[in-house]
Amino acid sequence: DLKGFAFDLDGVIADTARFHGQAWNEVAKKVGTEWTDELANNLKGVSRMDSLELILKAGGHENDYSQAEKEALAEEKNNNYLKLVDTLTPADILPGIKNFLDKLKAKNYKIALASASKNAPKILKQLQLTDYFEGIVNPADLKKGKPDPEIYLEAAKSIGLKPDQVAGIEDAQAGIAAINAAGELSIGIGESLKNADIKFADTSEMTLEAIKERMA
Ligand code: BG6
Ligand code: MG
Repeated sequence: DLKGFAFDLDGVIADTARFHGQAWNEVAKKVGTEWTDELANNLKGVSRMDSLELILKAGGHENDYSQAEKEALAEEKNNNYLKLVDTLTPADILPGIKNFLDKLKAKNYKIALASASKNAPKILKQLQLTDYFEGIVNPADLKKGKPDPEIYLEAAKSIGLKPDQVAGIEDAQAGIAAINAAGELSIGIGESLKNADIKFADTSEMTLEAIKERMA
């Protein structure tokens, strides 16, 4: 029986996936890696340092930077990202998400956050959504990032549920893989996602009724 939902944040709750892309694009320019849609997609759901490694590797620069230089690049990216995040208000919650959260709450579903972002608590606060979440996984505590199932297993634990009682919601391929590996129901936002149990073109189409219909 479905009793809870674990949400990804960037690209599901707010359009911050676009902000991450913008800020990483600047880093790519700086290190001389060509920015492509494929690279942008591969970064979704991936931790800050792993994203930097992917950008360096895509341009063949993986051995050109010291650890200290890499940390400086990641910090610069985060500072640029935070400038974009600072502009977020509740008006930036993606279509349908607020209603969906209200519906889940009214029906007593447990709600957790399974975001790889260290900035997630700050973003939830700016969107005024913090109170909906009974469990928020701290990505700093994880051994492995998405597509490893750890973050979704921890999300289920944080709301006192077993994986098969939880549905995970993701806009990233690495995230769908993590949900599936955790043994949870995978809900994908975006038509191009592979292996999602249920898929919606965008957040406005995701309702509890539509999910139940497709589970039946
Ligand atoms: C994920 C995003 O949610 O968080 C990634 O999809 C991002 O793009 C990752 O790299 C880590 O985010 P942050 O805010 O800790 O750098
Ligand atoms: Mg995402």
